[in-house]
Amino acid sequence: MAASAEKVQQRVAELRREIEEHSFQYYILDDPVISDAEYDLMFRELLELEASHPQLVTLDSPTQRVGIEAGEKFQKVEHLAPMLSLANAFSARELVDFYRRISRMLGETAIDFVTELKIDGAAVSLTCRQGLLVGGATRGDGRVGESITDNLRTIKTIPLRLKEDARIPELLEVRGEAYLPLSAFEALNQGREARAEKTFANPRNAAAGALRQLDPAVTARRPLAFFPYTVGHLEGDELVTQLQALELLEQWGFRVNPYYRLHHSMERVIEYCQEYESRRTEMDYEIDGVVVKVNRLDYQRRLGSVARDPRWAIAYKFPGEVALTRLRKIHINVGRTGALNPYAVLDPVRVGGVTVRQATLHNEDDIRKKDIREGDLVKVKRAGDVIPQVVAPIVSQRTGAEREFSYPELCPECASTIIRVEGEAMAYCPNTQCPAQRLEKLKHFVGRGAMDVQGLGQQTIEKMVDLNLVEDAADLYALTPEQISSLPGFKEKSIRNLLDSLEASLEQPFSRVLFALGIRHVGESVAELLGRSFRDIDELYEADPEEIASINGVGPEIAGSVRAYLDQPSNWSFVQRLRKAGLTFQADAAVDTLTLLKDKTFVITGTLRGVSRKEAKDVIQGQGGKVIATVSSRTDYLVVGANPGSKLEKARNLGIEVIDEAALHSLIEEASVSKGNG
Ligand code: IVH
Repeated sequence: MAASAEKVQQRVAELRREIEEHSFQYYILDDPVISDAEYDLMFRELLELEASHPQLVTLDSPTQRVGIEAGEKFQKVEHLAPMLSLANAFSARELVDFYRRISRMLGETAIDFVTELKIDGAAVSLTCRQGLLVGGATRGDGRVGESITDNLRTIKTIPLRLKEDARIPELLEVRGEAYLPLSAFEALNQGREARAEKTFANPRNAAAGALRQLDPAVTARRPLAFFPYTVGHLEGDELVTQLQALELLEQWGFRVNPYYRLHHSMERVIEYCQEYESRRTEMDYEIDGVVVKVNRLDYQRRLGSVARDPRWAIAYKFPGEVALTRLRKIHINVGRTGALNPYAVLDPVRVGGVTVRQATLHNEDDIRKKDIREGDLVKVKRAGDVIPQVVAPIVSQRTGAEREFSYPELCPECASTIIRVEGEAMAYCPNTQCPAQRLEKLKHFVGRGAMDVQGLGQQTIEKMVDLNLVEDAADLYALTPEQISSLPGFKEKSIRNLLDSLEASLEQPFSRVLFALGIRHVGESVAELLGRSFRDIDELYEADPEEIASINGVGPEIAGSVRAYLDQPSNWSFVQRLRKAGLTFQADAAVDTLTLLKDKTFVITGTLRGVSRKEAKDVIQGQGGKVIATVSSRTDYLVVGANPGSKLEKARNLGIEVIDEAALHSLIEEASVSKGNG
């Protein structure tokens, strides 16, 4: 008996070794030495042996790559060291500026750089203890991420156990990018389209979505891959350069992206950036730029970081790619606030490795200004994270059969007469009961940034509305297990998970609830300001528009919109129902945020991307900071957007902290965190 148990154990060990070896050949080296059928046979034998001898199952067994459904939502994990983001450079000049800054700070001119492709996926961190993969997490807010270990185990290019070609450290943290190859992305979207499901806008969204699946088996069906790009933490060894880190990662069995290179001058770095800008379509994954890193780690430490961006690295961003295609039709989408958003239905065209079928058209004025007509051959642009845009028509290709566009008189969803405000480019459907608006409102309500109800995706919401289970968000909180069970795919466990998620969302603070309501002009930061300025919803309800507008960062337009929302009886009764359901309508123990950036002076230069200058100013002022026009020695921060002017030069000369838009946001967040704790 004992002898046969030993035999089984030996066979299991042998199978694991072989399977690991062959998956390494297949997934990492891309050079399989046995057929798929042989591989499957071994895998099946191992599965069967483990099933009959469960005591032999170990965490690093290849069978564990497809884990068991995670019962709980993701645990929060604090990263060993914060996961930083990167400042951007959009031109060779900005790379030279980057070099000069570093050179000045280090007092060195001979600085080596490593360049790597910037993979457009999702940043993750992996933890290995004594060579065994024991943890994996999303980036989250950079400090705290979500534990997605079982999902990461499904990624075949992540070794479950480090190879011993290099010394195995006690504790190792590896950071890198999980991504979906373009070919897999296309196949995924084709499948979704065939099933009339919503397609993903880009591989990054698809990858991020796959990583946050509650059921690892679903993640396993999306063939994600992984490129490590840095060693976050290494216990027991001293690393000296980035190059060495990449080489070590290779020795441990990771598949490092092969295009990294060491350069002895910034000229060579720039050449590399230009070379890969033109070669970007060669790869079966999306790259949106090049990451330039100072090679020596002691230099990196000396340079440190500003807010969340290291000073020792920068992302050179490629410009968006363009392609030509036929614009077939202009359709209208009704948004959650009733705004009618025109979009173009295109002949499918590949732009930057992704097939684009639709593109935004902003509004009627924009369509007119660009003179875009149905039937036109158009130039389409796609820039990494943004939705594709129609840039311009090719007028010389017109046949005369093209049709000009104008908004319909009636809402395409509910046939209400649409409204166009004088002087505003947008048109609105005024019917708050419009089914399209209701659906979009619901999606917004449960989405990220708002109530963040885990496990409640867009499709589920759509199904719920189809089946008349819910009309608005308040109905969500009255759902019974029986009702949920009528949704496709919902079984005992997933029903409980959904109910738990809804329950957990009751903990979201007042400001999130305000944002979730979907009041026009009330974005996350305005909701934050409102949530902090009023004790509760009743106080806000009693406030007149002037009072609301007097809050720093909230102007008369926003105030008017808030007032109009609250004055609508159906909205107010909706609020009452939510309150009854247990949502939070009062502020946390007063955090006096108006002093977070108190006495800090900001200057803004260049074009900001995500927010208008006025919005940025409002946010800073809302936190008690000052925004002035000229840089002086008394300036605390210079916020730079694209194409900054001479202010940047001046700020650098004065040694003033220069931050970009992302850093500004982090700064405000950080200020609120430290204030909250302290
Ligand atoms: S280094 C401090 N290297 O780009 C260094 N990042 O904002 C931080 N990324 O979310 C990252 N490829 O996930 C680095 N070769 C690469 C990268 C890379 C993609 C992502 C990263 C991060 C973002 C930077």
